[in-house]
Amino acid sequence: MTTPSYTLLAIETSCDEVAAAVYNTEKKLLSHRLYSQTEHHKRFGGVVPEIASRSHMIKINGIVEEALKAADYTLDDIDIYAVTSKPGLLGSLLIGTSFTKALAGSRGKKLVAVDHLEGHAFSACLENDIPFPFLCMTASGGHTSLYRVTDYGKFETLGTTLDDAAGEAFDKVAKMLRLGYPGGPIIEKLAGNVEFHDFFHYPRNKMNDLMFSFSGLKTAVLYDLVKKGVYDLQEKTLLTDDITLKEQVSSSFLTCVADIFVGKISRALVQQRDYRAIAFVGGVACNKYIRGKIQELATRKSLPFFTPSPQFCTDNAAMIAFVGHYMAQQGKFSPLDFEVLY
Ligand code: KG4
Ligand code: ZN
Repeated sequence: MTTPSYTLLAIETSCDEVAAAVYNTEKKLLSHRLYSQTEHHKRFGGVVPEIASRSHMIKINGIVEEALKAADYTLDDIDIYAVTSKPGLLGSLLIGTSFTKALAGSRGKKLVAVDHLEGHAFSACLENDIPFPFLCMTASGGHTSLYRVTDYGKFETLGTTLDDAAGEAFDKVAKMLRLGYPGGPIIEKLAGNVEFHDFFHYPRNKMNDLMFSFSGLKTAVLYDLVKKGVYDLQEKTLLTDDITLKEQVSSSFLTCVADIFVGKISRALVQQRDYRAIAFVGGVACNKYIRGKIQELATRKSLPFFTPSPQFCTDNAAMIAFVGHYMAQQGKFSPLDFEVLY
């Protein structure tokens, strides 16, 4: 059977990034462009949904045009449209899906609705041929999940978070320490200044399963700051600018998160012994320290370890194009009136 050749345009707007990518059956990823709203949300210490959807509304057309131009294509060359349909911020999802539905509908083209989390789960496949089954740790600002990935489009959730997502915990601890937003990169930098030493031994998650919980860790950091007399619980303010303390807290927090990931991944590898690779994806996978710790585990287990380049760890449309492409090949198209889920 020969696969028909086609060109696909993918659009992602589930949170605070608007992104577009052009993907072709022969040449794979032709282009991807993105506009990140981080600067708009910085002063609030997190994403403000209303601001996110308004910005998408303004930026989406320009980003799609940029991606098409970079691929040297026009809308006339697009055969299939793919768009993130879930999960995410409702207002943000509605901008991307409505825009894409209008394009596909008015041009009589096929449409694929892509799950953002499936996008992350396969994001490491954009640059690597990963053997199945592989164990995939996804950690981003909104999600923390451990998946068993057995084929394109086939993955099972082994564990997820009971409360905060891992990236959210980085952002909340950074906010507590008045470090700025997003918290992950700043915490990593401060922790590096003190060589990733574990000063305060925050409690590791003792659950005997593959579920995660980061809210307790965040609270442990908070109460440790209160105990040290440097945080006012009533006013919710840090009472010190001591950079050494901020470095030590950041480092202790980061080493604790890394231990939690390594612990859960080890447990999953023991529960099912047929994994052929480990992948680490999502915004938190930009963290070189955590990557290194998971790499060490993979080496101990004689398994190859894959993680996307940072541009494909955080939200992007290339991963949506990748999933949209194999869904199209599997004939998984959606009607124009598909629902968004948030
Ligand atoms: O994947 P992503 O762009 O957004 C969601 O889909 O949610 O991830 C953003 C998250 C933020 O919480 C940010 O603090 C975290 O990824 N992050 C990091 C690092 N870079 C970004 N966390 C830890 N270390 C990093 N270097
Ligand atoms: Zn994401």
